Order: sequence, then structure tokens, then C-alpha cells
Amino acid sequence: MFTNLKKADSEIYQAIQNEISRQNDTLEMIASENFVSLAVLEAMGQVMTNKYAEGYPGKRYYGGCAQVDVAEDLARERAKQLFQADHANVQPHSGSQANIAAYFSYANAGDTVMGMNLDHGGHLTHGSPVNFSGRLFRIVSYGVDEKTGYIDMNQVAEIAKKEKPRLIITGASAYPREIDYQAFREIADQVGAKLIADIAHPAGLIAAGLLKSPIPHCHLVTTTTHKTLRGPRGGMILVGKDEENDMGMTTPKGKLKTISQIVDSNIFPGFQGGPLIHVIAAKAVAFKEALSDDFKQYSAQVIKNAKALAEKLVSMDYKLISNGTDTHLMLVDLRNKRLTGKKAEEALEQAGITVNKNMVPYDDQSPFITSGIRIGTPALTTRGMQEEQMREIGGLIDNVLTNIGNESIVTQVRSRVFDICQQFPLYQLE
Ligand SMILES: Cc1ncc(COP(=O)(O)O)c(C=O)c1O
Repeated sequence: MFTNLKKADSEIYQAIQNEISRQNDTLEMIASENFVSLAVLEAMGQVMTNKYAEGYPGKRYYGGCAQVDVAEDLARERAKQLFQADHANVQPHSGSQANIAAYFSYANAGDTVMGMNLDHGGHLTHGSPVNFSGRLFRIVSYGVDEKTGYIDMNQVAEIAKKEKPRLIITGASAYPREIDYQAFREIADQVGAKLIADIAHPAGLIAAGLLKSPIPHCHLVTTTTHKTLRGPRGGMILVGKDEENDMGMTTPKGKLKTISQIVDSNIFPGFQGGPLIHVIAAKAVAFKEALSDDFKQYSAQVIKNAKALAEKLVSMDYKLISNGTDTHLMLVDLRNKRLTGKKAEEALEQAGITVNKNMVPYDDQSPFITSGIRIGTPALTTRGMQEEQMREIGGLIDNVLTNIGNESIVTQVRSRVFDICQQFPLYQLE
């Protein structure tokens, strides 16, 4: 696959080879990562990367767009089918780009936006002061109940009534439970706010019909395409029901009639230039895969695996936020084990198990240290692993975390991790 690259740039070739080995030979348990199919990889590494295609299919600012129009049209149609949406914009380069364009479809700089507290599982783009969201909008945050670990819907309602946000964004990066989009919509309606769901994490599980869809309840839905949805790195915006533009938004060409037109205009020319058409082609391929029965079975296994791992960890006295999971991820509070997230992440990495340190709700450590780790099952499930492997891996995690600094345990676990990886081969690429 890489014969030309090997000759042209041996250093990058070598880094890629090393990364292939790392992905093949370690247990990838970062909840936001997955392994794309070879078909998706091929669609991404091809000549459409050469093409400028500012605009949208049929209405481009460049000639020669017939074939890239085919790719983008297929991606849009498949996305609409997958999520039962009226409109899909598949051009966002990332989840963050999707979010900024979605915000500006209903709000202007200085407006009040309500999102989930980053320390409780929210994402940077939901109002962190170091992100565009926190810098451009007046942010009010909601969080989870300290005792239950579930989103406190009473608190959401109270804050919304008091602060009267223009926009509420629901969705998270480290929340293990299903979100009640209908309840969020009722609150949004009571205070005259618009509702956006950011389903970057559970998108694949929603597409597979395993978690409830936000589409009927939200004004807009944003997502990444590379997590549970198992596509290339990128973003997308979905409009469930296209409606008249009640924002009164105009461009130099006149008033935009519908919310879909506003969304499209906010992505291009609003926040982006030319789309990454090779990535859009790969999104189309991934969406076709996600429409298959195999993907439904895969997604069901992702959840079964997460539940099996969560139960195993709880049985060894690990404290899980909300005591478990409905999704592909769990958040482990390590304070009773007298460990920080940073220490745990480092020790597990040495043993070939990749997770990320993560703040837990009401954490007393800084974001660089943290009291928790976030663990997910999408990538290992793609390799074909099931509940039996999850239970064994739970034991390996415990073995590492209860023997920090013990080199011989690390070596033993690393060797078992390698064996498990060989049993579930991933990429044969050279
Ligand atoms: C909930 C949520 N929204 C948005 C994003 C941003 O996606 P990206 O990293 O593609 O900008 C993430 C990424 O982790 C996320 O978890």
C-alpha cells in the first residue's frame, strides 16, 4: 500500500508503520476512537483530495465538480436515511466546526448559551472559557447530580428559567447514560430556547436504533463521524425537520428561507472554505456500512461489551459514575483506589492498554491530573472482541492499577495484551 511513500519519505513511512503496529498490538480503549474499514481508508486516500469544491452539489464555485458532487450527494442522502433527517450537511471538517456553525444558526455573539459543564462530562465546545464557545457567548452550565451521577433535569429546568438562554446544547464527551432529549425540548420550549443535540459520542448507537434519537426533539443535531459511527475523522450537521427561518437571517444575496439554508451558509462560506471531498467520500462509505445489519449487530455488541466491562470493574470495587453505563463508555472514579487519572493512564499505557485520564464530576484534581479515567469499547468491538474478553481485560486493568510500579506485572500484562491482540487481528498494511 505504501510503496511510493516508502521511497519518497522514509521518516513519515516509518512513523505510519509504527502507528500501524501500535494500533494492531495494543488494546485501544479510548471511548472516542474506533478503527475504520479498509474501504473507508481507501476512500480517504485518493485523488479527490486534489479538488476544490466550494459550495454544494450542483452549485459550486469551481468547474470539474461532477464526480465530487456524486460523492457528496451520496454522503448526504445516506446520512439523511441513517438518521431520518430532512437535511444533512456533511462538510464540517470536525465536530467543533459543526458546533460553531450550529450555534450561529440560532444565536449571535453575546447571546446566552447553556451547555453541560466540562468537568461533568461536557465538551470544550459546550462553553469552556478556552474555546470559541466560552469566548463568544455568555455561558451558563448544568451538570450531574453528585449522588446519582445522572444529569439533574430539575437543575437544568431551574437554570434555564433563571437565565433564559437563547440556545441549549445537550450531549457530552464523558457521560455514560442515555440522554432524555424530549425532556430537554420541553424545558427549551418553556423558556423559548432552541435545542441542539451534539451526538458526537453515541451517533453510531443512535443510527443503529439502540439509543433514542434526538432528531424528533431538537432544532439541530451535530455529530462527529469518527467515534461510534466508525467513519473518517470529521463532522456533520443534521436538520430533523426543515422549517422556515425564524431568525430573519440574511446574506448579501437576500433572506435565507429555511434553517437548512442557514446551516449550509454557516458552514460555507461562514466558517469553512473548500470541503475535504476525499473525507466526504469516506463518510459516504462509512454511512453505507452503518446502514447495514452488520453495523446494527456491531453496535449492540459495543453496548454489551461496555456493560460487561462495567460490571467486572464494579465487582472489583471500582466506582463508576452513575454505577454503570447505557452506552459505549464508562467513567471510573479512582479516588477510593488512591490513584489519579494521570497515574492510571500512564501505568495502563505501559501495559499496552490505552485509555484517557478524565475529570470526574466534583473532581478535586486539575484537568492535567484528574481523579478518573474514561474507558470505551467501540474500537475493541470492531476487532471482534466480546464479553469474555471484556471481563478478562477488566481483570488486567485491575492487575495493573493495584500493582503500580511493579515491572514484572506490567511485563506479564503487556504480554497477555499482545496475545489477545493477535487473536483479534486488525490491519495487515505495509
Ligand atoms: C461531544 C463532542 N462534541 C464535539 C467534539 C469535537 O469533535 P472534534 O474533535 O472532531 O472537533 C467531541 C470530540 O471529542 C465531542 O466529544
